[in-house]
Amino acid sequence: MRIGLGADHAGCALKVALSAHLASQGHEVVDYGTFDPDVSVDYPDFARAVSLAVASGSVDLGVLVCGTGIGMSIAANKVPGIRAALVHDVTTARLARLHNGANVVCMGARLLAPALAIECLDWFLAESFEVRHQRRLDKIAAIEKDSAS
Ligand code: RB5
Repeated sequence: MRIGLGADHAGCALKVALSAHLASQGHEVVDYGTFDPDVSVDYPDFARAVSLAVASGSVDLGVLVCGTGIGMSIAANKVPGIRAALVHDVTTARLARLHNGANVVCMGARLLAPALAIECLDWFLAESFEVRHQRRLDKIAAIEKDSAS
């Protein structure tokens, strides 16, 4: 898969670990930054870049990391077509795909150990959307449409 990654300064080190793991699994990684953990940056800039790449189809899925994952998920979900899920464990990572058809996964580098974050990411990539939940995704898309007019 072609996977877009983004992080702020708080998530930068975890992003590097996730990126190396994805590459070792044969995925193509597109890194949207940030690249220096010592320079404070604003997470919406990276959420925007990755989410637009996912929404346009230039990458298949997105991965966003900040301190808690909260800011990234809020910002990413502002982009039409994005279903960004903040995950904390294997269960939320799996259900984000199975039930919610999430196309972006967000994680908190200050909350998750790198090994658990990698495990969450592996499960997020391994699972697929269960079509029995499509009606709910259609309703989410309808909210997006209503809000745009
Ligand atoms: C940056 O200090 C921090 O606010 C950010 O990484 C994130 O946790 C926001 O949700």
